[in-house]
Amino acid sequence: MCGIVGYVGEEDAARVLVDGLRRLEYRGYDSAGVAVHAPSGRVEVRRAVGKLRELERALEAAPVHGKVGIGHTRWATHGRPSEVNAHPHVAGHIAVVHNGIIENHLALKQALISRGATIASDTDTELVAHMIAEEGAEDADLETCVRRALNKLEGAYAIAVLSDREPGKVVVAKSSSPLVLGLGEGEMFCASDIPALLPYTRRMIFLEDGEMAVLTAQSVEITTLAGEPVERDPVTIDWSPVMAEKAGYKHFMLKEIFEQPRALEDTLRGRLDREAGDIHSSEIGLSEEDARSIQRVVLLACGTSHHAALAGRYYIESLARVPTVVELASEFRGRGAVIGEGDLVVAVSQSGETLDTLMAAREAKQAGAKLLAIANVIGSAIPRLADATFYTHAGPEIGVASTKCFTTQLANVLMLGLWLGRRRNTLPEERAAELVEALAHLPQQMEQVLVGTRQLVANIARHHVEARDALFLGRGLNFPIALEGALKLKEISYVHAEGYAAGEMKHGPIALIDGHMPVFVLAPRDSSFERSIGNLEEARAREAQVVAVATEGDEAVRAVADDLIEVPAVLEPLYPLLTVLPLQLYAYYVADFKGTDVDQPRNLAKTVTVE
Ligand code: AGP
Repeated sequence: MCGIVGYVGEEDAARVLVDGLRRLEYRGYDSAGVAVHAPSGRVEVRRAVGKLRELERALEAAPVHGKVGIGHTRWATHGRPSEVNAHPHVAGHIAVVHNGIIENHLALKQALISRGATIASDTDTELVAHMIAEEGAEDADLETCVRRALNKLEGAYAIAVLSDREPGKVVVAKSSSPLVLGLGEGEMFCASDIPALLPYTRRMIFLEDGEMAVLTAQSVEITTLAGEPVERDPVTIDWSPVMAEKAGYKHFMLKEIFEQPRALEDTLRGRLDREAGDIHSSEIGLSEEDARSIQRVVLLACGTSHHAALAGRYYIESLARVPTVVELASEFRGRGAVIGEGDLVVAVSQSGETLDTLMAAREAKQAGAKLLAIANVIGSAIPRLADATFYTHAGPEIGVASTKCFTTQLANVLMLGLWLGRRRNTLPEERAAELVEALAHLPQQMEQVLVGTRQLVANIARHHVEARDALFLGRGLNFPIALEGALKLKEISYVHAEGYAAGEMKHGPIALIDGHMPVFVLAPRDSSFERSIGNLEEARAREAQVVAVATEGDEAVRAVADDLIEVPAVLEPLYPLLTVLPLQLYAYYVADFKGTDVDQPRNLAKTVTVE
């Protein structure tokens, strides 16, 4: 989850690096630093704890000018946030930035100390710098030193390295952590993620695990760690830099909430076969034979993606009648889960880089399961591992709290259910056609909910801003939405919140309810409606402040709720894509009124690439 940027060219490297790091802020960080080849011939380092502004202050106080450099934003994994632990780390003639975790760091540290090294920080990264420096016999070039050192490391890394001795060069390498190379005219870049490079180039190459590259202003040479040359054509990334900016909204999260109609449209584009009432097979990436032969679907995910996976179970079971289970990736890994041939594993991940999901998916694939990725970041690790990928096309999501990626994930798991159902003859053509048609109209209905409820939800949030707890209740497809509403509120406003299957309320959580507790009841006119209203009444009888999310014009609900948020009437499977919207807005406004760091909430990182 650390951010890496590297530059070789004719521009002021420190400026390019800080600019790139700013575009990676969404990954979460606690300190930052740059290393630049100064005209003196030395690599000079500036580091600071806190936001990038602190690093800029350090650079203003002691400017460093040069045309080659590496930069880093750190999210602490080994050693607390501090300047000495911030990257780049220097050993002898070497400076290194690193994203990931070196698993054999204890053994490496002991060995280095026994050979006389002085280790200044608590980080595993500094050990990498020492290891590379140790390989630096006069005849060895930087890439050879890096290659030799990496062969002794175990764990996950993306690194960028500079050497005093080779001023026009940045060497990068990767294993498990993401790294993308950017190809410019007379300048080359590297970064942990695409948005850092968008203002400079759209021609990019994704480095694969076990590969390294040498970047000079004129060239990029990729090899394996064993030294074998690798030929790979660049891909053109069509995200515009503006897409990665706030576009006038106060926070990225609010912008992304309002981008959902557009994001859904992009995700549906080219996939709905409205004539046949079907989903185009070419988009899913699995064969017709796969669809018919799978005996079970296993959805793997973490956090918000796990909530989309829970909805996926409802869709796949009801539409395709395939037994389906949902697993938290962190609980699936390493427990010896029964999985293998005949299973379709669907790994759901916005980033495509979440370590637990990646490892769980790898384990399942090794056991013989077919692996389908549902991811947002093109070319990320999980899609690269998967047999097929069904991308969400939500565009870059900068806010740490996932919003547009969640609703596009819901769309993808629904489309997957539809596609499977049609091929397994469990979903009649007319019903499929009805769903496909309804999906096509959904972006417009999302817009209606967002625009129509924004002020009301802000008022409700203002009213409850001091509430210390909140409860979210839903049944069926709205149970994952209740979980998601609670997660959103927790992560950005730091309010304790519980999401519950409404039917479970009387088995415990009802004891929490008093007159200070806002209780959100998701009660659209679906097959659970009567029972949901029963739960609403139970909460009301205990003096809860009831906020109902219900179908437009539902006077019965209006009569029993303190506040009513209306969504248009849609087919039952589509309600979650609408009922979640006011919950996202509620979490956003509570957080904004409290003045928390909405886009980068404390202790959280956008992409969790550690266990
Ligand atoms: C979402 O709001 C969270 N920040 C988090 O739960 C996230 O969904 C989780 O870390 C999984 O990430 P992924 O989708 O990139 O795998």
